[in-house]
Amino acid sequence: MYRDHLKYLACPSCSGELTIGSKVISDAEFLEDGSLDCVSCGKSFPIVRGVPRFVDTSNYADSFGWEWTTHARTQYDSYTRTTISQDRFFDETRWPRELNGETILEVGCGAGRFTEQAVSTGAMVVSLDYSVAVDANYASHGRLKNSLIVQGDLYAMPLKPERFDRVLCIGVLQHTPAVGRAFAGLPRFLKPGGKLVVDVYAINWKTFFKSYYLLRPITKRIPHEELYAAIRRYVNLMWPLVRLIGKLPSGRLINKSLFVISDYRGRLALSDDLLKEWAILDTFDGLSPQFDRPQFLSTVKRWFAEAGFTDVEVFPGYNGIVGRGTKPVD
Ligand SMILES: C[S@@+](CC[C@H](N)C(=O)[O-])C[C@H]1O[C@@H](n2cnc3c(N)ncnc32)[C@H](O)[C@@H]1O
Repeated sequence: MYRDHLKYLACPSCSGELTIGSKVISDAEFLEDGSLDCVSCGKSFPIVRGVPRFVDTSNYADSFGWEWTTHARTQYDSYTRTTISQDRFFDETRWPRELNGETILEVGCGAGRFTEQAVSTGAMVVSLDYSVAVDANYASHGRLKNSLIVQGDLYAMPLKPERFDRVLCIGVLQHTPAVGRAFAGLPRFLKPGGKLVVDVYAINWKTFFKSYYLLRPITKRIPHEELYAAIRRYVNLMWPLVRLIGKLPSGRLINKSLFVISDYRGRLALSDDLLKEWAILDTFDGLSPQFDRPQFLSTVKRWFAEAGFTDVEVFPGYNGIVGRGTKPVD
């Protein structure tokens, strides 16, 4: 992390100021390894491989750490040579393409497919994730002057309150143990008048056709390496059939609900090899998380109302439900 990015951070325990510890490996600008110490409560937090870390190395998001370090760039536009992530980022947020001088907080950044988009706006982007997915994101963005990558917990964010113009939390809330509480913690970090965008899986009729909800109580207990290897073999074996069925009307639904294989044929403009790579990634993503808690549209509307947001829009979209709103100035 860059030394001058310390201004965004605060102690996750007591919100105190942090200082750079005495034993650091760094050059004039960049801290590679060392620690950050709280001047109020005295707690110390390590900086490891350029990333300040405020949580235990192992936690409930370990499956995501495995997933995103294995598929570090699979969903990056710069890897697929598409605009899939760019389209989703700007469609969901409706944010301008140029945000020089602004600050964005990205909560649950994973490998960084949306960090790539956020930094492209010129804004200063702080990307936080609970898992070692931060290492994958760091490999792509960690040395950019407008990027700070942090391993932290959204329930106790190591950040200064009211520091950000925009907060983005997509693909994350359903994977937390208390979804409403996870949402309720986000507005605190927005400046008055700041913009919040979230998305979350929806509960609707399709939920009942998602057979991975039946399998996940078992598969989430399988060690990640074993589960991933089994899914990889299975998808490779089934791929010719999946390819055939995917061409039928409702073929993708059949592939997902009957064979538990995520199939983006006809929906995303990817080559067959990339479709298979995304299928392996997303099948693992469906079967491995500790928590997967879809929500009702009315619940998401209530969250925004309870937070007192204005200009609220909550509607079915992308991951299930998209919600946008503005934090009141008063
Ligand atoms: C499905 S991934 C989405 C990643 C990224 N937003 C994307 O769409 O590619 C969900 C991410 O949420 C993170 N996550 C889950 N619980 C979290 C928490 N309590 N604090 C921060 N991140 C969390 C996971 O580690 C994981 O990387």
